[in-house]
Amino acid sequence: MKKLLSLLIGAGLVFGAVTANAGPEQDREALIKYFTTKYPNVKLDNYVNGALAFDPDAMEQYKEIMSFPPFVGIIEQGKKMWDTPFANGKTYASCFPNGGKDIAGNYPYFDDKTGKVVTLNDAIDACRVANGEKPYGLASKEIGVLDSYMRTLSDGMKMDIKVQGPGALAAYERGKKTYFSRVGQFNFACATCHIQQAGARLRSDLLSPIIGQATHWPVFRGGENLVTLQERYKGCFKMIRAMPPKIGGTEMNDLEYFQSYVSNGLPMQASVFRK
Ligand code: HEC
Repeated sequence: MKKLLSLLIGAGLVFGAVTANAGPEQDREALIKYFTTKYPNVKLDNYVNGALAFDPDAMEQYKEIMSFPPFVGIIEQGKKMWDTPFANGKTYASCFPNGGKDIAGNYPYFDDKTGKVVTLNDAIDACRVANGEKPYGLASKEIGVLDSYMRTLSDGMKMDIKVQGPGALAAYERGKKTYFSRVGQFNFACATCHIQQAGARLRSDLLSPIIGQATHWPVFRGGENLVTLQERYKGCFKMIRAMPPKIGGTEMNDLEYFQSYVSNGLPMQASVFRK
């Protein structure tokens, strides 16, 4: 009981700091402080491993699986797609700064011209359109497969999201609001499980913390089941019996923008195993 009480008080403090119209940087710092105080033995960089950071046995298993990942074939398929020229002879690399290397940590970004958040997957599909190809659609298998390869080009890059200007700030705030809003039949917010209860168990699952959650996508669940970040959001919305927003729509993109910002400074690693 005492433990639960201190947990709630701790969460209350961070909720206060995060919701009292603090800026993005204050939010990020408050979250780091909250988690490093609550779990002084977990190193900050370890948060990119999600729930594994709290479970050394599962972490060992994870390392073993990652030494021969069962899903390399899918990443190779993504590489083939990435390297295959469009009908006009250009490739995806031509659409991105640095040929697409070490850039994933700058996505999503806010585009002042369109007034919208652009995710990496938006940019991949836009690249197709700019080169006269049909878009795949953001919830398509093809985008997931391309994503699984393209993001590996930024392994080790530190997340570095910018929130500059009133439009960007408004998008960040909308994403934050979604994260903290209680919704669905169970009346849970993302924050209930991934801030307040992070590190605790929900049935057989340990709950991952918000910081680090945006750094390692897509994941492969159980073996070859590819799940993008927004597909995971969708799964969590469904788990709490709430209507998931559309993948690639403004609400999902703003949520990804907020969530990515608070992982700033953490190292990225694409295409990892999750159970
Ligand atoms: C009822 C508790 C609960 C709520 C509420 C919830 N989730 Fe989850 N979430 C889980 C569980 C369980 C998992 C799988 C274990 C883990 O990695 O945390 C998970 C996993 C995730 C992951 C993947 C973490 C990883 O490293 O693989 C992300 C990202 C995520 N949730 C985001 C969200 C977002 C965004 C919301 C709000 C829309 C949300 N969750 C709401 C329970 C919840």
